[in-house]
Amino acid sequence: MEQKSKAVVCREINQPVTVEEILVEPPRRGEVMIKLAACGVCHSDLSATNGTIPFPPPVILGHEGAGTVVAVGEGVVDYRVGDHVVSSFVSMCGKCRYCQTGRPQLCDQAAKAATTLPDGTLRTRDLSGKPLNVFSGCGVMSEYATLHIDNVVKIDQQMPLDKAALIGCGVMTGVGAAVNTAKVDAGSITVVFGCGGVGLNAIQGCHIAGARMIVAVDTSDAKLQMARQFGATHVVNSKNEENIVKTITKLTEGGADFAFECVGLGEIAAQAYGVLRKGGKAVVVGVAGLKDMTSIRTASLTFGEKTLTGSYFGSARPREDFPRMIGLYRAHRLKLDELITRTYKIDEAPQAFADMTAGRNARGVIVFD
Ligand SMILES: NC(=O)c1ccc[n+]([C@@H]2O[C@H](COP(=O)([O-])OP(=O)(O)OC[C@H]3O[C@@H](n4cnc5c(N)ncnc54)[C@H](O)[C@@H]3O)[C@@H](O)[C@H]2O)c1
Ligand SMILES: [Zn+2]
Ligand SMILES: [Zn+2]
Repeated sequence: MEQKSKAVVCREINQPVTVEEILVEPPRRGEVMIKLAACGVCHSDLSATNGTIPFPPPVILGHEGAGTVVAVGEGVVDYRVGDHVVSSFVSMCGKCRYCQTGRPQLCDQAAKAATTLPDGTLRTRDLSGKPLNVFSGCGVMSEYATLHIDNVVKIDQQMPLDKAALIGCGVMTGVGAAVNTAKVDAGSITVVFGCGGVGLNAIQGCHIAGARMIVAVDTSDAKLQMARQFGATHVVNSKNEENIVKTITKLTEGGADFAFECVGLGEIAAQAYGVLRKGGKAVVVGVAGLKDMTSIRTASLTFGEKTLTGSYFGSARPREDFPRMIGLYRAHRLKLDELITRTYKIDEAPQAFADMTAGRNARGVIVFD
């Protein structure tokens, strides 16, 4: 049976999101229908509404969701009605060269089907019958969603679903950038640019890895306050700095071993690279606009053996790493409760996006009835 569902839709670029009733088709072969419990609002959702991430509208937003399986399609053996799951905005086909070499975050299938399910089709329509795209195979800012099991990870029933949702993007992306991509080691000197939902998690990733110094950089004092709570040892408001690279080089007595760009601007990527000491690694986590460029001093790569790299979804292997995050949370090593600044009902989604634009929350989370 087709399911009626309220969903958050980007109808037009640079316009507020709409909350509308849509229709969700039951799962086909290899798919499950999920009743969502919670969905975080990520900056990437906002970027889809302003064209920074070029997803053709109309598109159902949301890629940081958790809920309960309510229907399973043909051929699905690993999932049952009642299972608790978290969405994965990278799909894991298990067959491509990236999946086969332990890098599902780079799965070819995800790249091919950015705004549909992996087979290129959609299970979502508006009430006039027009198909609605979905954000990265997910579109989980919706009461119900049908996803392919390649975009779903089963989790422990005891884990609260609102906290689990955050693992589906912000937590995995930030913590993973530090522990998986950068492989921060104990005693490292680290710098994190941007202390939103992703950056705060990069900070706690550095903390979990045993960094000795974690410098948080942001333009908002409120965010820097939060950064301290997540493990930052030093905070710098870059608005007050004439030359942020110089300030941080001095503060770190020669530069950072690891620096993370968690804003989404080439200019900040250059700053992250600029604060490295010899042998250092800068990791670009933010998603910049397609025309955005960065520039670095080429010779410094050679003489300083520096690395500039990217991190997608925290280089996660979601089926292994989501339970790892849950384990860290249970061991009181990973903060999730503190990330949720505010919850919203789905009808309040436009406010949640306005608050994201204004930088009011660590994370805002839409909670479903
Ligand atoms: N790589 C991935 O897989 C992945 C996954 C999720 C999100 N992202 C991207 O990560 C970025 C951050 O996402 P988020 O949800 O944390 O966003 P957010 O809006 O919650 O946080 C961004 C932070 O950057 C700060 N900031 C803005 N301009 C700054 C500047 N010039 N210098 C320092 N700080 C500045 C803001 O005050 C804010 O605290 C976005 O670009 C998002 O698209 C990437
Ligand atoms: Zn995200
Ligand atoms: Zn694959």
